[in-house]
Amino acid sequence: MSSFELVVVADPEALATVAAQRVVAAIEGKERFRLALAGGSTPERLYAKLAADARIDWSVVELFWGDERLVAADHEHSNYRMVRRALLDHVEIPAENVHRIQGELPPTEAAEAYQRVLGATPLDMVLLGMGGDGHTASLFPGQTDGRGVVVTESPVPPTGRVSLALDVINASREAMFLVAGSGKAERLAQVYAQLQDESQIQGEPRLPAAMVRPQRLSWLVDEAAAEKLPRGGGE
Ligand code: 6PG
Repeated sequence: MSSFELVVVADPEALATVAAQRVVAAIEGKERFRLALAGGSTPERLYAKLAADARIDWSVVELFWGDERLVAADHEHSNYRMVRRALLDHVEIPAENVHRIQGELPPTEAAEAYQRVLGATPLDMVLLGMGGDGHTASLFPGQTDGRGVVVTESPVPPTGRVSLALDVINASREAMFLVAGSGKAERLAQVYAQLQDESQIQGEPRLPAAMVRPQRLSWLVDEAAAEKLPRGGGE
């Protein structure tokens, strides 16, 4: 069973601070850094911190998205729009380094176009969140098959999604989860138990978030999300 790191921090602000420190450290000194961003709301604070961190040489960063909703780039639910407002509008990053998923295209076209841009070079870091159902990126329970870039169906709107598949995420050098809030506590405890025990827990399907097993795996969680973890969590 490969190990993983669990870091419990006080609150969402601390989560963003610790995550930003790790992203900055990972980029430092690199000539090229392929970074896939998480969507949703948790990482917004992190992206704002990265935008304000003058140590980052954005010219070496190739930005990708772990997943996208099949909506226009200026739609309120677009992950690209969230990142543009929190990060891209505030940093000097070459346009050719920003590889958004074209959510305005028909699903298969969007996935195929993104697969071409992504290529086969492993990602250096993948930032991920975890949904209340244990999904990550847009890999929902029962929708974890496929390779490369896949089209999935979210149980909550916007339903059409394009996502990195598990093989791409697990081929990355490192994946870092950011999870905050007591609403995630129950599910996080379940994922944590599954991460501890590679074997199939009796009758319990493995949750997508527990299937993420890259070379290096870290879970950054706040106290509220960690409240149901075994005391002293961490590997
Ligand atoms: C998305 C994300 C998704 C997200 C989780 C957690 O497109 O919504 O990729 O996987 O990370 O649903 O979302 P929150 O951070 O909003 O709780």
